[in-house]
Amino acid sequence: MKSILKSIIEDSRDSTKLGQVATYIPELAKGDRDALGACIFDVNCDSILEGEYKTKFTIQSVSKVVILICALIDNGKDEVFSKVGSEPSSDPFNSLLKLEINENHKPLNPFINAGAIVCTSLVSGDNGIEKFSRIHNMMKKLANNDDIDVNYSVYNSEKLTGNTNRAIAYYLKGANIIEKDVEDILDAYFKCCSIEVVVEDVAKIASVIANNGVAPWSNERVIPEEVNRIVKAIMTTCGLYDTSGTFSVNVGIPAKSGVGGCIMAVVPNRMGIAVVGPALDKHGNSVGGVKVMEDLSRKLSLSIF
Ligand code: DON
Repeated sequence: MKSILKSIIEDSRDSTKLGQVATYIPELAKGDRDALGACIFDVNCDSILEGEYKTKFTIQSVSKVVILICALIDNGKDEVFSKVGSEPSSDPFNSLLKLEINENHKPLNPFINAGAIVCTSLVSGDNGIEKFSRIHNMMKKLANNDDIDVNYSVYNSEKLTGNTNRAIAYYLKGANIIEKDVEDILDAYFKCCSIEVVVEDVAKIASVIANNGVAPWSNERVIPEEVNRIVKAIMTTCGLYDTSGTFSVNVGIPAKSGVGGCIMAVVPNRMGIAVVGPALDKHGNSVGGVKVMEDLSRKLSLSIF
C-alpha cells in the first residue's frame, strides 16, 4: 500500500498547478501551493505517511465534523436537527442564499458555514471559550494528540476578515436559531477552523470514525455509535459541498474538505485517510487531494457503493 500511495502522490503533483491557495483569509495565502502529502491510518494502528506529510496546515472546515460530533453528543439528534437540516446544498460553503427561503430559516446541513455556526452554538458551554474548549478537547482525543492548538495568526486573520460568517451568524440570530451572543459563538468557530494539524492527526480522527467511534489505539469508545453513523452519513452527502455528488461517484466514501487544503476520508471498518494539498479548486476543495482520493479509491477498491 505504501508504494501505491507514493506513486499516486507523484502522479498527482501536476494537478496542484491547476489550483490556487485560499486568499480570502489573507494568512492562508502563505500556504505552499505545491505541497502534497498524505497519511493512511488503519483500524489496526498501522500507518503510512507519504509526500509532504510534515506540512502543517489549519484544519478549517474539517473541524465541522468534530463540531457536529460534540453538538450531537451534547444535545441529541432531535434537538440538533430541529435547528439545522440534513440535506445536501448545491451552493458554496459560505452561501447565505437559502437561509431566507428555507423552512424556519434552518441552514441546509451542518457542514455549510451556517450549519456549522449553529452546531457551534449548540455545543455545551456557557460561552465561546467553554464551547471551544469542549471541541478542542474532543479533537485532541480523536487525534490522540494533546499538543494540537490554534494557529493564532490564522485565527486573527479569520476574525478580521470573517464578515460573511458574521452576516450569516447575525441572520441566524435574527431568525432565533442562534440564541447566545453571536460574536462569542463566532470566536469559537474561528478558533476551531484555525487549529493547526498535520495529516497524521487528521487520519487518526478519521480512523476513529472508521472504527465505529472506538479509538483504535485504546479501544475506548469516543463517539457514540448512533452519532458516528449520522456523521458518516452527513460526510457522504454534504462533505464536499456542491461537489459531494461527484466525489461520491468518483471516490465513494464519507469525507470532509477544508480550505486549508485537507481532505479527511473514512473507509468504514478499514482506515482513516488524510491528504493535504493547499491548492484549491473553485469550490474550495484541494485539487491534489481530490485527485489522490480518486486514484486511491480506484486502486484500493475503497468505494462503499
Ligand atoms: O468559514 C470559513 O471561511 C473558514 N474558516 C472555513 C471554510 C472552509 O474550510 C470551507 N471548506 N472548504
